[in-house]
Amino acid sequence: MAASREQFSSRLGFVLAAAGSAVGIGNLVGFPVAVTKGGGGAFLFLYLMFTFLLCLPVMLAELSLGRRTQKDPIGAYLQQTPARSAWRLLGLLAFITPFMIAVFYMVITVWIFRYFVEISSGNLHELVKPDALTNFVNSPEIFVYLLAVGGFVLFILASGVKNGIEKAAKVMMPLLFIMLVGLVLFVLSLDNALVGLRYYVIPDVSKLNATVVNTALSQAFFSLSLGMGILITYGSYLSQSESITQSAILIALADTTVAFFAGLLILPAIFVVDPSTDPAKLSDSSVTMIFNYLPKLFIELEGVIGFWGGSILAAAFFLLVFIAAITSLVSIIEVPNSSLIDTFKMKRKHALLKLSFPILILSVCCIFSFGMFEFLTSFAHYAGQSKSFFDLIVDLFYETILPLNGLLICLFVRYRWKNKLDLELQIGDGNYQNSMLKKYLDWSLVTLIPLILFFVFLNTVFHKFWGISVF
Ligand code: PHE
Repeated sequence: MAASREQFSSRLGFVLAAAGSAVGIGNLVGFPVAVTKGGGGAFLFLYLMFTFLLCLPVMLAELSLGRRTQKDPIGAYLQQTPARSAWRLLGLLAFITPFMIAVFYMVITVWIFRYFVEISSGNLHELVKPDALTNFVNSPEIFVYLLAVGGFVLFILASGVKNGIEKAAKVMMPLLFIMLVGLVLFVLSLDNALVGLRYYVIPDVSKLNATVVNTALSQAFFSLSLGMGILITYGSYLSQSESITQSAILIALADTTVAFFAGLLILPAIFVVDPSTDPAKLSDSSVTMIFNYLPKLFIELEGVIGFWGGSILAAAFFLLVFIAAITSLVSIIEVPNSSLIDTFKMKRKHALLKLSFPILILSVCCIFSFGMFEFLTSFAHYAGQSKSFFDLIVDLFYETILPLNGLLICLFVRYRWKNKLDLELQIGDGNYQNSMLKKYLDWSLVTLIPLILFFVFLNTVFHKFWGISVF
């Protein structure tokens, strides 16, 4: 019943919760790595364009679908399509995708938590020994960390939308922002930080190529939590008097600001340690950056700010990433959870219990796939490479299915839903019908955006699974 549906208590609560979802490992680590490799300011410019021109419309589509139907993603597609319609498969995708992304994100969050605990216990130097990450991820203690992180996320979710998700975001998001600004100010005050700052904001267009453009788009898309059903779900908890457009712009701004600040932290720190660094040559994946490169960076910073200075900075940074990851995990598990509650009529706690078991098992399989079990470590073989169970989930769901989901939602909203999008976006926004935004959405959601997402999808399939680069 719509009347008994839980809602966020205010626009601020909603924006903080959605920003909590958007701000995650992607912003704090993925973004700085991508900017560093993509020519600083040039990447920044592309990222901003993609966020507002390509991702914002998809955000509006997802939020509108959720709020108009007042349902979880499966329920939303069931309500809006006739029986046996192929569109109904979108509901299924919107259940499986967040479920599987939750698994890989959970595993990385567990590692981050472990690094935070180790650094806080004065063991920063242990983390830079060769094979530190391999040893950590393969030690039995990792399961204790998994239970701790899983338990924390479940506790927040079990308390409901207002008292769990919203309350957690209202505490964690301001804390995250204050810590981030504090760290940025501190790093910027160190010698040579301005060299990094210059690299960050002054565009170097010579670094731009098809891969950088693709990375900027995927980064923006992932960072705004698109294609995962999260915004459909959170949109269904948004009060029916709020303007979706204004809320979405606030969420995108908050997300981009945090990503920008994370770059302000990492890039100057790299140059403080070595002003002659060529950032384009640094590690190329977020995972190696967080777990191998950053601990080294903090240790080298000890030369400037002392042993405890380096450890405190490192602990604060990992705590920051951990907080950001928790609010993202909460949002992604809420998607299948809301489907079990709404469409399958389960009680919240019962639904969570039902979900936590398979998520736990699959997370354990991922943990096993870093060398503990050969079968899971060399689980699949494609594009000439052996892939672990964890790699397969990342390649399939994060790299491939996310852009596909984005493409499908654009098509659904424009071809199946038609003017309902306009009706929903008009609420709380009287000028919408005559606005430039409406004209832009009318055009971009049927042409530009699906076309680009289709190429990203195609390129990923060819590149990831057959080793052929289309671009
Ligand atoms: N926006 C998140 C990030 O940047 C992505 C995400 C959201 C991942 C929710 C998982 C769950 O990290």
